[in-house]
Amino acid sequence: MSKLKDKVAIITGGGSGIGRAISELFAKEGAKVHILDLNAEVGQGVVTDILAAGGSAEIHGCNVSDQAEVAAIVSAIGRVDILVNNAGIAHVGNIEKCAEADFERVFNVNVKGAYNALHAVIPQMKQYGGGAILNLASIAAVVGIADRFAYSMSKGAIYAMSMSVARDYMADNIRSNSISPARVHTPFVDGFISKNYPGQEAEMFEKLSQSQPIGRMAKPEEIAKLALFLCSDDAAFITGNDYPIDGGFIKLNN
Ligand SMILES: NC(=O)c1ccc[n+]([C@@H]2O[C@H](COP(=O)([O-])OP(=O)(O)OC[C@H]3O[C@@H](n4cnc5c(N)ncnc54)[C@H](O)[C@@H]3O)[C@@H](O)[C@H]2O)c1
Repeated sequence: MSKLKDKVAIITGGGSGIGRAISELFAKEGAKVHILDLNAEVGQGVVTDILAAGGSAEIHGCNVSDQAEVAAIVSAIGRVDILVNNAGIAHVGNIEKCAEADFERVFNVNVKGAYNALHAVIPQMKQYGGGAILNLASIAAVVGIADRFAYSMSKGAIYAMSMSVARDYMADNIRSNSISPARVHTPFVDGFISKNYPGQEAEMFEKLSQSQPIGRMAKPEEIAKLALFLCSDDAAFITGNDYPIDGGFIKLNN
């Protein structure tokens, strides 16, 4: 019950889906959770639930794309032991269907957002003796997925940034890893299906479920358990790695 006792954790996009599950589990394990989310209302809902369960959490309404906003919040928080770069958005389409505005929107949230949080948090971690960083990549970082040009680009960048930070800050006792989930049943997936496949929601849900050889999507809570392990001292020997959590998607899909 106390794998993260007295740790201070920042979870970007902690108001929904995977970020929500991570925020709730980390708080249950004793962390003081700071949620940075564009949607302060959903983030406040998560905070209210965490407080009701006896945990400690705070919401900071924030656009992770805005460097000054992220820097001001991190500076006010002070000591940070754990950073989970989870905020992310999707785009469906090949390169011809990816307009400049689409590319920039995905880049600004998924890539620059993570950069902004790392840029602000790493000096704090150095000052306080180290920390653990976890970045949400995706199977799309390493597998060619149809019609995910901008999204795949952004997740490949996350994968690489994670390794770069692991290398540069090893001597500062900062560990950096990433998680690459296949499909996880979150509002992100529901929103994507209803936007792109109106009228075919049930069929698409089943199709996306079956694209994992295990026959279903992951649950956000399953991703949170891996995140907890990687951010806890149990993973003290683990840095510079990516962990697929994919129901067999990468290696068993033939
Ligand atoms: N769901 C999946 O199948 C899946 C698979 C692989 C990787 N991922 C990755 O996991 C992460 C979380 O996905 P999810 O499915 O839980 O998504 P979600 O849409 O349920 O939640 C994302 C959260 O990020 C917040 N957010 C979006 N833009 C933001 C911004 N500019 N600043 C701050 N907060 C912002 C949203 O308000 C929301 O609360 C994403 O990085 C996603 O790419 C998801």
